[in-house]
Amino acid sequence: MKNITLLGATGSIGKSTLSVVDQHPGQFNIFALSANTNWQAMLNLCQQYQPVYAVMTDEISAEKLKTALDNDTQVLSGEQALCDIASHQQTDYVMAAIVGAAGMSSALAAAEAGKRIMLANKESLVLAGDIFMDAVKNSGAQLIPVDSEHSAIFQCLQGGRSGLSKIQLTASGGPFLHTPLNELQSITPDEACAHPNWSMGRKISVDSATMMNKGLEVIEAFYLFNLVPEQIDVVMHPQSIVHSSVYYEDGSTLSQLGNPDMRSVISYAMAYPERISSGVEPLDLANNSPLEFYVPDLEKFACLRLAFEALKQGGNAMGTINAANEVAVDAFLNQAIGFLDIPHVIEQTLEQTNNTVLGDLDAVIANDQTARNIATKIVTKYA
Ligand SMILES: NC(=O)c1ccc[n+]([C@@H]2O[C@H](COP(=O)([O-])OP(=O)(O)OC[C@H]3O[C@@H](n4cnc5c(N)ncnc54)[C@H](OP(=O)(O)O)[C@@H]3O)[C@@H](O)[C@H]2O)c1
Repeated sequence: MKNITLLGATGSIGKSTLSVVDQHPGQFNIFALSANTNWQAMLNLCQQYQPVYAVMTDEISAEKLKTALDNDTQVLSGEQALCDIASHQQTDYVMAAIVGAAGMSSALAAAEAGKRIMLANKESLVLAGDIFMDAVKNSGAQLIPVDSEHSAIFQCLQGGRSGLSKIQLTASGGPFLHTPLNELQSITPDEACAHPNWSMGRKISVDSATMMNKGLEVIEAFYLFNLVPEQIDVVMHPQSIVHSSVYYEDGSTLSQLGNPDMRSVISYAMAYPERISSGVEPLDLANNSPLEFYVPDLEKFACLRLAFEALKQGGNAMGTINAANEVAVDAFLNQAIGFLDIPHVIEQTLEQTNNTVLGDLDAVIANDQTARNIATKIVTKYA
């Protein structure tokens, strides 16, 4: 029986993880759960799964949960409590599924403690890729990607890296793949969140619509698979059936295919190197044809171009674009700026930040804060 600490339990990945756990009651046990403010959903989860710990990052929500709960679950609050449950001696596996930079410290705590980290929080690698990968190496942690593209590549590479020439991430293009650039400014948050294939949280849904999600994934892949930027390619694939591909020098390409449902990816991370049922329907290729592929339009999807630029700049640039994007997406979701202002905020934040090397976590956090301050000022220009 493996004890799971599920960070971000009330989110989209959190729910899918619990769905896989429900299907394998003898194999996985929910040891600890976390959320931010949604104490009502957490109350239900605590009643159902009876975890030893429940962490609400927000203190007031923790108090409300404590008052409402009538079982033995210990309710904690704050960022340190997240790190404590992630590195707890009784935790075997950590699902790192908090959204945004807020998920970095706890994912890093799991890495330092040598856990199996099932990493959905790509921001950990975008902000602190070198520090994170060093922690994994030094502690002997097992890092398993929980992003459909990276899981696909991880699965393809099980046969080895000999002769690897490049990887290719597929991108659905989100809801606006065929929308002309001049129609994008008036897009509403609900339209941006209506992803044609994947059901996800609102922030990542907007990131998919701008293709910043793919940009963050390019950076994530750079660290996970120890590549140079030139070895990372992106292809548009609206059906989201081919989850990504690995190209070899002999002309061979390996791809991983499946229906777009994160439970396949999550169950793989939980059972690795075995495979277990996930509740996902088998792929019916004949009913999914034709499968289409296009070269991405980097003028329309400027966020993807900016992510490649940040990766090439290196140092703090990747954390800077991530922070600027979080500020811009939040402003967009609150209808303070338009859809096409998101890349403008990111580009100007990058221009206004000095390119430096980030040696430790304090420097990563300071850069994140600086970039947020700059981006917040830029947002007011567009608001
Ligand atoms: N959804 C997908 O299909 C998918 C696929 C690949 C990768 N990912 C990655 O997985 C991560 C989670 O995505 P998601 O779609 O599941 O997000 P989501 O549905 O928005 O859920 C986010 C979770 O994080 C918690 N949270 C939010 N802000 C927090 C904070 N400041 N401190 C602590 N916890 C906080 C939320 O708690 P409350 O409910 O209390 O707010 C919730 O449990 C992201 O990094 C995303 O890029 C997602």
